[in-house]
Amino acid sequence: MSIQSTIKRITAPDIRALKGQEPIVSLTAYHAHTARIIDPYVDFMLVGDSLGMVMHGFDSTVPVPLELMIMHGAAVVRGSAKALVVVDMPFGSYEESCEVAFRNAARIMKETGCGAIKLEGGAYMAETIAYLSDRGIPVMAHVGLTPQAVNVMGGFKTQGRQKSEWAAIEADAISVSEAGAFAIVLEGMAEPLAEKITKLVDVPTIGIGASSACDGQILVLEDMLGLSPRVPRFVKEFGQIGAAIEGAVELYADEVRARNFPGEAHVYGMKASASSKAKGKPSSKAKSEVVGGKGRTSAKSK
Ligand code: KIV
Repeated sequence: MSIQSTIKRITAPDIRALKGQEPIVSLTAYHAHTARIIDPYVDFMLVGDSLGMVMHGFDSTVPVPLELMIMHGAAVVRGSAKALVVVDMPFGSYEESCEVAFRNAARIMKETGCGAIKLEGGAYMAETIAYLSDRGIPVMAHVGLTPQAVNVMGGFKTQGRQKSEWAAIEADAISVSEAGAFAIVLEGMAEPLAEKITKLVDVPTIGIGASSACDGQILVLEDMLGLSPRVPRFVKEFGQIGAAIEGAVELYADEVRARNFPGEAHVYGMKASASSKAKGKPSSKAKSEVVGGKGRTSAKSK
C-alpha cells in the first residue's frame, strides 16, 4: 500500500476554508526529494512555472512547456503525501479558449495526480476559471505581478504602488474569486492594496512580495534556502544552502584529488566464499552488486 493511500491529503476546499483562520503556509516544489522534506510543514506546495528559471536557467517563465510542468508535477506528487499539490499552467496552455484550458488542465490533473491548477490573470480569465471549476478542476488564481506577462509589462514590476493602479487590480481579484477560484496568489504588490484585496474577497489570498496582510504566504523554495544567486527584496533567506553545497563540493574535490575519497568505508570488498571460489576474481554476483550499486542499500553490503 502506498503512503498516499494511508494519509488524507489536504484538498482545495480545505484551503478555501482557511480564510480568516490560521495563516496558510506554502512553498514551491519542483522535485520529489524537496517535496518529501517540506510536506509536513506546508498546507500546499506549488509546482510553479518559476521552475523554468530556477531549474532550467530560462530568463523568464514564458518558454516553459506543458510537458515540463507535468514531469515535475508528477515527481512532486510522488514525493509528498499530505500537502495539496498545485501545478501551474504554463504560458500558452490556457489563454486561447476555455476548451483549450480545460484540455490542458485535465492533462495536468490526470498525468500528475495533483489536486489543483494555478493560472495567471485577472478579469479576462474569469470565464475560464468558471469553466474549469464547474467541470471539476480547482483553480488557484494569480493577480498583481503576473510573470508570464513580463513582455507586456516591460519587466517584473511591483504593482499598486500608485493609487491610480488599484481599481483594476481590485476588480481582477474580485472577478477571479466570484468566478470560483479557491484562492488567489497576490504577487509583487504594495502592502495597503494587498490588505484591501484580502478584506474584499472571500477566498484566501496567498502573498509573495505582498506583505503579511495576506491570508497566507508562498516563497520559491530555492530563494528562501539561499540557493538562488539573486533574490527580490521581499525574500528572506531562511537557510544558506548555496554556501553549504559549495563547501561540500570543495571538500569532495579536495579529497578526490588527494585520493582520500573513496576511503575504506566506501568500497566493496570480496565476499569470503566468492573470493575463495574465484581465486581473486570477483564473482558475477559481487560484480553486479558493484556495477548496479546505484541502490543505496547495496552501499552498506561488505
Ligand atoms: O511560479 C511560481 O513559483 C509562482 C509563485 C511565485 C507564486 O507562481
